[in-house]
Amino acid sequence: MIQRKGITPATFDLFADEAAQPPATEQIGPRSWVLRGFALPLMARLLPALEAVLNQAPFRHMVTPGGYTMSVALTSCGQYGWTTDRSGYKYSPVDPATGQPWPDMPEVFLELARAAAEAAGFHGFEPDACLINRYIPGAKMSLHQDKDERDHGWPVVSVSLGIPAMFLFGGHARSDGTQRVPLFHGDVVVWGGEDRLRYHGVMPIRQAEHPQLGEQRINFTFRKAR
Ligand code: SIN
Ligand code: FE2
Repeated sequence: MIQRKGITPATFDLFADEAAQPPATEQIGPRSWVLRGFALPLMARLLPALEAVLNQAPFRHMVTPGGYTMSVALTSCGQYGWTTDRSGYKYSPVDPATGQPWPDMPEVFLELARAAAEAAGFHGFEPDACLINRYIPGAKMSLHQDKDERDHGWPVVSVSLGIPAMFLFGGHARSDGTQRVPLFHGDVVVWGGEDRLRYHGVMPIRQAEHPQLGEQRINFTFRKAR
């Protein structure tokens, strides 16, 4: 009879506990991290601040240079906002929908972005742009690189709110394989350094309802654009 040393009921219990409570921090690349629940302590301040931003700069569906209307609705806050239209992708200090500057980045957004970058080993991150994406069930984001920023020495800090998403984290070529990373309300992903230009995207969002945000997922990406 084969002795299966070490595989005792106690070992199975240990694995069961680990499965129930995944680690708070997961490394998904040499300089890429998932910080589970990192935004939760700030949530009571984040959601009202988000609402104030949205009152000033509502979500809108933008068109890509190729003429495709994005399924994700977006807006921005901070000194620069990211826009796309038939003429291309760019950062602009002005919201093209209103002709006004983008709403200021709320202090609590800045606190979160700085702290998450620091926790992932990127010191002194001072974002000047926060893109805000809204996904309703069925919305997705195709694989892309974040490369419209001037200095790729700064990381991207991405915050997930609302219903879950399956984030895809790829390599440096579009055709590289992707890791599937489930993201939940309050999770933060940070990627930078040698990982800064890795392809990433979001699979079509599955129908679900979040107690605070309803049938939607909201994502913030903080960048240093200029
Ligand atoms: C993005 O890549 O701009 C958004 C990523 C996400 O929604 O998680
Ligand atoms: Fe992106």
